[in-house]
Amino acid sequence: MNSLFDRYDLRGLELRNRIVMAPMTRSRAITTVPDALTATYYAQRAGAGLIVTEGAQVSEQARGYLFTPGLHSKAQTAGWKAVTAAVHAEGGALFAQIWHVGRLSHVSLQPGGRAPVGPVAKAAEGVHAFGYREDGTPGQMPVSTPRALAANELPGITADFVAAARNAIEAGFDGIEIHGANGYLFEQFINGGLNIRDDAYGGDDVGNRLRFVLETVDAVAAAIGSHRVGIRLSPFNRVFDMPAFDGEAGTWLTLARELAARELAYVHLSNREAIVRAAGEGFLATFRETCGGGTTLILAGNYTREGAAADVAAGVADLVAFGRPFIANPDLVERLRNDWPLAEGDGATFYGGSAAGYTDYPAYRAAAGAESEAEPA
Ligand SMILES: Cc1cc2nc3c(=O)[nH]c(=O)nc-3n(C[C@H](O)[C@H](O)[C@H](O)COP(=O)(O)O)c2cc1C
Repeated sequence: MNSLFDRYDLRGLELRNRIVMAPMTRSRAITTVPDALTATYYAQRAGAGLIVTEGAQVSEQARGYLFTPGLHSKAQTAGWKAVTAAVHAEGGALFAQIWHVGRLSHVSLQPGGRAPVGPVAKAAEGVHAFGYREDGTPGQMPVSTPRALAANELPGITADFVAAARNAIEAGFDGIEIHGANGYLFEQFINGGLNIRDDAYGGDDVGNRLRFVLETVDAVAAAIGSHRVGIRLSPFNRVFDMPAFDGEAGTWLTLARELAARELAYVHLSNREAIVRAAGEGFLATFRETCGGGTTLILAGNYTREGAAADVAAGVADLVAFGRPFIANPDLVERLRNDWPLAEGDGATFYGGSAAGYTDYPAYRAAAGAESEAEPA
């Protein structure tokens, strides 16, 4: 029976356990360049079998929030170099998540103040972007109405992903994860309720809606090797105004079959609970089977120690990812191994700010040691 703490061979990359740190945007990159604090933050969490970084935008157009890091300039690549060196020095492994937010952006974040882009010119309702107000101060405001991308613009975006993936490898990452989840650009194209384009990249035809993401997967894999490419998806997620649509299960299973043929490093589903709620445990098993025996499956979403151990033992997932628990527990793997209590993160410092709530959460041993020192003799 597999355990969370067994080693794992990820297409030739040796992971020291089966616990993944899920990608989490922390909005600490004031200039879009990751700095020494970010290197410290990830190095503190290098006990994970694999770290997937926060989303890093592949271009200025790809950005949907202030203070998120990029992976499209020399300075950003140099900043990441220090991050990968710090994690590798601690014996960890890390993939960069690369993303394009598509329509989930605001004109104040876009080059030249232009409209953000999407498959169709429809704004996400009730969704906010973190950009600049008219007076120039940072703030939350409704996302702007996007313009529909022309088909001949898509190869340019694919090229941005390829360039970002190359930058990631140059920066020392062990691989990259394409962000195809959570209502961002690729999911906007995959979603049959939103993507009603009448060209080769949309409409009723599943192949059309999958074309853009698969072309990008292929281009990135050709550039850096399929063994270094993972992808994150979120079937049946309803975040950021993603509607339900006809043939949804079939869409995701068709994508799984396409990905199986590409022999990627892994497929990562961000929302285990939402999938089971919408389609049942059986869907997870069918999805896994469809991805093929050779594809590593990572599952995420509200995992507890027990749930994670059970999924790995039962082979529901090869690797399990924890998000929020890694924020307040830099030594999460050790805590899970020893069944030590977990600290609660402070939601007020999840996004933005500096070291507080970022690099100042102590490891359990350090915290316990500090407490016993404080006790009267
Ligand atoms: C602060 C925060 C930032 C996040 N940023 C990202 C992100 O950049 N990319 C992504 O794919 N998911 C992101 N997520 C989702 C997490 O990766 C994860 O799927 C989710 O938190 C569920 O796992 P958990 O219950 O263990 O936290 C974020 C979640 C949180 C809490």
